[in-house]
Amino acid sequence: MTPPGAPLFARISGTGSYLPQRVVHNRELEATVDTSDEWIVSRTGIRSRHIAGEGESASDLALHAARRALDAAGLVPADIELIVVATTTPDMMFPSTACILQRKLGANGCAAFDVQAVCSGFVYALSTAELYVRAGKCRHALVVGTEVFSRLLDWADRGTCVLFGDGAGAVVLSASETPGILATRLQADGDQVDSLCVPAHVSGGRVFGHPFVQMDGGAVFKFAVRALGEAGEAVLQEAGLSPGDVDWLIPHQANVRIIEAAARRLGLPIERVIVTVDHHGNTSAASVPLALDEAVRDGRVRPGQHVLLEGVGGGFTWGAVLLRW
Ligand code: ACO
Repeated sequence: MTPPGAPLFARISGTGSYLPQRVVHNRELEATVDTSDEWIVSRTGIRSRHIAGEGESASDLALHAARRALDAAGLVPADIELIVVATTTPDMMFPSTACILQRKLGANGCAAFDVQAVCSGFVYALSTAELYVRAGKCRHALVVGTEVFSRLLDWADRGTCVLFGDGAGAVVLSASETPGILATRLQADGDQVDSLCVPAHVSGGRVFGHPFVQMDGGAVFKFAVRALGEAGEAVLQEAGLSPGDVDWLIPHQANVRIIEAAARRLGLPIERVIVTVDHHGNTSAASVPLALDEAVRDGRVRPGQHVLLEGVGGGFTWGAVLLRW
């Protein structure tokens, strides 16, 4: 028990993830669009991605990841007092995917809501949940990033369809007497809405606009490198640490060249960066918790290490979370 008046911290007590069964290799895309494995690998580092089955929704993927995170934390759904889901591909217009997940999990009663910050979604959701935990509003929060991004792709557009994949990652964030999350930073620049968007909406039972991902690849690339660097530097400064103290950098997994440039900017060797984009593609809000879970389960992330999570995505939105494992 935490003594009265003692500072409260938020620590990740369990991680989990889930990838749909179907794996699509670059060679398979060569059959449908004018592209090549060589082009995709050299420009992005992506070799394959998982694609959800027709009946599989964001909440289905989230459910598997959440159950694994709860198991890892040694908790049951009834222990959860807050659910925050980051997704760009919700099951429905409403209610939130968090509420749908809540029903599937059987964790009814606690607060549940979605966060929409596209590829920065998990960093936004984790930073939000941390405030609830630190304020003493809940002991255990479930934070999930889940995407069926394949549904937003025009599979005839080679400029975008080769980049993305589906998946989900989850963490349980628990109140603790010892620090876990050390610093967080969230930012957005709404002037950049048009650089990366799905410019469509539903009205009167019809879809208006272009319901597929549209992006200025070059602008996104340049912005992502700068934003990841700045967010990382900001949380390190807030925590009184330097890049040399970072054991693992887990940046949003959009493109291996963006990841390498962001690591270089912080002066970190690529050996200290968790890279999953090669076998996951860009899973948007799911990319950071998927990569974290992989590195926790294979033993790379160990107790006492400093882990820097970074997100950047449409909006533009960007941010970072620095934590001690
Ligand atoms: N296969 C073959 N050729 C292609 C493909 C493809 N899949 N896609 C584009 N090309 C062509 C282009 O049409 C262009 O042809 P052209 O010169 O005849 O016009 C040529 O390849 C070069 O295109 P560039 O845009 O110069 O290629 P670049 O090296 O910039 O790479 C890329 C493009 C990979 C999209 C890069 O700009 C990028 O990664 N940007 C970041 C975008 C991103 O990661 N978005 C994800 C969402 S954002 C996020 O998660 C933060």
